Order: sequence, then structure tokens, then C-alpha cells
Amino acid sequence: MATRTRSFGIDIGGSGMKAAPVDVSDGSLAADRLRIDTPQPATPKAMAKVVRKLVAHHDWDGPVGVCMPSVVTNGVVRSAANIDPSWLDVDADALFTQAVGHPVSVVNDADAAGVAEMRWGSGRGRSGVVICLTFGTGIGSGLFVDGVLVPNTELGHLELDGPDIEKRAAASARDREGLSWEEWGDRVDRYLTHVVMLFSPELIILGGGASKKPERWVHRLDPGCEVAIAEMANNAGIAGAALLAPEPGALRSARE
Ligand code: BGC
Repeated sequence: MATRTRSFGIDIGGSGMKAAPVDVSDGSLAADRLRIDTPQPATPKAMAKVVRKLVAHHDWDGPVGVCMPSVVTNGVVRSAANIDPSWLDVDADALFTQAVGHPVSVVNDADAAGVAEMRWGSGRGRSGVVICLTFGTGIGSGLFVDGVLVPNTELGHLELDGPDIEKRAAASARDREGLSWEEWGDRVDRYLTHVVMLFSPELIILGGGASKKPERWVHRLDPGCEVAIAEMANNAGIAGAALLAPEPGALRSARE
């Protein structure tokens, strides 16, 4: 298990790339996070440059964890719902490792946020099936069984009332369609009820930007299982990515 006290995380989104060193004893940020606009077009090469900048800004000299809004298997990007399609099949681990000069591991953004919630936030000490959902541009999901992550579940792309539920129930749908918080809350409730029917979770944790003002919409939810608001706020992705970063020395020697 980790003996280090600090790690470094980067959370890549469609509009911003955010990074900070993280105290892995409690998931807090060990310095102010830096946010740089995601380059447009958000190609792998352009984003690798920003990753290098973020690491250099913090004078970080060690392994790095990165999360991004894609299916990621063994460091390779396998989906590009809300990012540039040129990411498909790119070995992001290798690309960022080369850019930074230290081992980098890349995971799905909602998996990282979920890992942070399970370690330090609303999922602390919880067993059974727990599902962490993030509501932002899309809907991300992190599924845990007795604290162990089942990666890349992509529950934002379930078919419900149409092909892709995130198009109607993500936070971005509320803005796009001018929905009231109540109307949007009802859509989220319908979605959560479906998720409960499929997985019978003990607990659903609601995160992402929309969880900042829960009083506006959580009273509309009654999906048939316990629901909690994420505690790690905006930093869940950074903190979880940092926790999942390679141990100092471990990956480097495995690769050499
Ligand atoms: C992507 C997921 C991601 C989620 C939240 C979805 O569109 O497919 O991989 O976790 O957005 O960013």
C-alpha cells in the first residue's frame, strides 16, 4: 500500500485541465490548483503540452495520475463522447509519460472521482454495491463492489427514453433546454430509478458540478436506495487521479 504522503493529479475536461499536488492522507490539495483552458482542437499532442505545463508549474518531480472523460483500458483511450475523436486508441499513458518524464497513469474521470469519494468522501467505509455518478457536461459513473472499482461502466450512456440518457439528464441538458431545477431533478430521478432497477445499489453518490447546489433538486429524488451528495466537491477527479498514480519507482522499473 502507498507509503508516500503526496501525489499529483490532473483532471482533464472538455473545457479545462486542472492540476494540483494532493495530500494522500486526507485527499486535500497540497497547493492551489492550476486550471488551464483545454486547447481547441483538443488533440492528444496539444493536451500533452498542457499536461507538461501543469506539472512544471507545480515543480512536481514524480509520478502523475490523470483522469479524462473516456473509457480507458490499460492506459489506452477507447471512447471519445465529449472529447476530440483523434484520441481514439491513443496510448495516453505512454504519451503523457513521455511529455512529463515520469510515469503517468490515465483513468476514466468518474472512476477517479468515485475512488476519491470512496476513500475520503461520502463512500468512506461503505461496502456492497455503491455507484458514484457525476453530473456535468455528460454523466460519468464509478461502480464499486465492497470498495473495489469496476472500471469504465459508462452508465451515462444507458438507453432510457432514447439512445443516450446523458443527453437529457446531464447538468448540461438543464442549461441547454432551459429546465427548472425541479424539472431536471425529475429527469435525474427517473434515471436513478432505472440504475437502481439494474444494480440494486446500497448507495448512490451524486457528484459533479450539479452537486454544488443540491438543495435545489435532491428533494425530487426518490429512486429506492440511499442517496448522498459527494463531499469532495470539485477536487474529486484530481484527488482520485493522484491516488491512482503509479507508486514512485514501481512503474518506471516495470517499464525499463
Ligand atoms: C463519457 C464518460 C465520462 C463522462 C463524464 C461521458 O460522456 O463517456 O467516459 O466519464 O462523460 O465526464
